[in-house]
Amino acid sequence: MGVGVLLRNCYAKPLKVFPNARIQPGWVVDPGALRCQSPPPMEFELTEEQQMVRKMARDFAEREVAPKARELDEEGRWPEELVEGMAELGLMGVAVPDEHGGAGMDNVSYALAIEEISRACASTGVIMSVNNSLVCDPLLKFASDEQKKEWLEPLAQGQKLGCFGLTEPSSGSDASNMQTVAVRDGDDWVIDGSKNWITNGPHADMILVFCNTNRDLGSRGTTAFIVPKGTEGFNPQPRDHKLGIHAAHSCTMFFENCRVPDRLRVGDEGMGFKVAMSTLDGGRIGIAAQALGIARAAFEKAVAYSQERKAFGEPLSKKQAIQFKIADMAMELDAARVLIMRAAWLKDQATKDKSVRHTQESAMAKLFASEMATRVTHQSLQIFGGYGYSKEYDMERHYRDARITEIYEGTSEIMRIVIAANALKG
Ligand code: CAA
Repeated sequence: MGVGVLLRNCYAKPLKVFPNARIQPGWVVDPGALRCQSPPPMEFELTEEQQMVRKMARDFAEREVAPKARELDEEGRWPEELVEGMAELGLMGVAVPDEHGGAGMDNVSYALAIEEISRACASTGVIMSVNNSLVCDPLLKFASDEQKKEWLEPLAQGQKLGCFGLTEPSSGSDASNMQTVAVRDGDDWVIDGSKNWITNGPHADMILVFCNTNRDLGSRGTTAFIVPKGTEGFNPQPRDHKLGIHAAHSCTMFFENCRVPDRLRVGDEGMGFKVAMSTLDGGRIGIAAQALGIARAAFEKAVAYSQERKAFGEPLSKKQAIQFKIADMAMELDAARVLIMRAAWLKDQATKDKSVRHTQESAMAKLFASEMATRVTHQSLQIFGGYGYSKEYDMERHYRDARITEIYEGTSEIMRIVIAANALKG
């Protein structure tokens, strides 16, 4: 406590840091300190509960997930037993209050858990992240009491699995330009169109799908619906084949004359785009934490290898060229962690105070962490040399898995647009 790090209005003036201050992995930045004119000292300590969640996720990841990760990747096998294991530990609804079936922890704990699971297996990490961030979180914020009882509770308990349908074949980044329509017909809505790259899609019990319900209104003509698996006219397609995260199955979903009752509409008519965007503000923290976990796995293996492998009569770690890589990677990992913890902490404040926004902080965390993961897995593979390129080691998997974090839940380019838009607002 009392770490002695003080930031004064850090966007405008240089940092003032006491000489004995060292930022350690796991410390939490108090974002209040980044915003106030006369900020309080930052606290980096995790609470006992947050440390407990991190330990529990790390133990599970090391014991159950890591030993299977290579096989899951090679065979593209859906990790059914790991999803069940995560459900038993409360990891499928970490930040959902216990009265709605969740673990009742905070978003800092959630980010720590995603990092630990993704360090072992990025596929398992994103399966967990989609259910938590993209399905449970919007249902918690926007669903009716009846919908919470019927859907949020079993989803947060991991008895059911969810997926999120925003992206379409011809609109990924330009999300409001969706072509899937829902037309009112009495007490029902009839959905027609398609969604693609839907992570968890082939195994999900429901989709939270975003449809155009009024073409004249642009993004204000978007509405969200729950469509249960098995609904007539709702047809998930076979899984996609991708560069990485092989065990996290995704697919295209077709909707043909798919009829859902109005009671499955989530939020008001026309409010769907805001539901999607505010959901992604949270989802991006999860993907940033996934990227951090992947990068940490690669980094830790590269550091260990550099101490074992000898070249020119000494371990690689004695070479300054390797030390410089290690220094840059250690710094980037810490910087990503600080951004992620700040965004997660802010999301926790937003649950108590609706005026708190974290759009920009989440975008910064996702942008930095995902590009960092690309750089760190690249350099870690370089330290491994030819062995890094070999399927006999995990490094090539980390390298492939990192790449998607720059694409899904908002590309790096979209993150820059979001950050610039907020920065230009002042
Ligand atoms: N929270 C709440 N409301 C928001 C918001 C936010 N973060 N961002 C925008 N809005 C609101 C705006 O206030 C505006 O509302 P009004 O009409 O009332 O003024 C409305 O939404 C439209 O905003 P914009 O004009 O900014 O919208 P835009 O069409 O220009 O798009 C965008 C903005 C940032 C580019 C957005 O389209 C975007 O984020 N695109 C990326 C989509 C994305 O991330 N897709 C990921 C798919 S999910 C996935 O990948 C899952 C997986 O596989 C794991």
